[in-house]
Amino acid sequence: MSDPRHIAIIMDGNGRWATARGLPRSAGHRAGVESLRAIVHHAGVTGLEWLTFFAFSSENWSRPDGEVRELLALLKMFIRRDLADLHRKNVHISVIGERDNLSADVRGLLVEAETLTRANTGLNLVIAFNYGARDELTRAMRRLAIDVAAGRLDPQSISADLISANLDTSGMPDPDLIIRTSGEMRLSNFLLWQAAYAEFLFVPCMWPDFTPAVFEEAIEAYRSRDRRFGGVNSKQCCKESPELLAVATASDGVAS
Ligand code: IPE
Ligand code: IPE
Ligand code: MG
Repeated sequence: MSDPRHIAIIMDGNGRWATARGLPRSAGHRAGVESLRAIVHHAGVTGLEWLTFFAFSSENWSRPDGEVRELLALLKMFIRRDLADLHRKNVHISVIGERDNLSADVRGLLVEAETLTRANTGLNLVIAFNYGARDELTRAMRRLAIDVAAGRLDPQSISADLISANLDTSGMPDPDLIIRTSGEMRLSNFLLWQAAYAEFLFVPCMWPDFTPAVFEEAIEAYRSRDRRFGGVNSKQCCKESPELLAVATASDGVAS
């Protein structure tokens, strides 16, 4: 199968990585930023088109105040320290998630990162910060409802494409591969709509231990997957039955 265009990563396990070493959770988050840097660099060099990271969820506010402060500080530090370098590497940055309840200085940095790199044509780096898929869908639905109520939108013209276009990920391809570290096998409110046909890979290592080599292994595993999108595998049915192939490739997709 062809290589993934868009890989999304749920960076999980920073806290457990630190605890296992007798360190505070904050040390795990700092080590996690190093992994992030290494993977962004690697993806840029290898020519990946889209790379999304889940950095802070809409539910992560429920963590202790000190940890939330640390995570916000790390985001600010990452942008301040790495933005110039990412710009030099032609990386295009976008941020998804709710902005309204972020402080003005954080919002300002996110806008600065997006504005500076807007015309870049290399890796598209997407940071999901204060992101929750249900929140994203709720905001989109509210916007569409306002348009319907104002008479600007006919409810009959609400399509899957229109919903996609109203999400934070508007204009981005859906993720082909979603990787989650730390062995947890759940989405935790990440890209629920966009993940409809994503391939999933759950790797046991904690995020600070995730290296470009593990990333490459994940891409290798993706290559061996058989994505059908609800259809049939044409090679398989061709071998087994030429009539089935005719059905599979019929333009209207309906067997007569
Ligand atoms: C991922 O690591 C980082 C964020 C969710 C921000 P965790 O902090 O969730 O680490 P664990 O899952 O507690 O080990
Ligand atoms: C998901 O990890 C969020 C991020 C990686 C930013 P969590 O650690 O918050 O998820 P749960 O609570 O284990 O589901
Ligand atoms: Mg976690």
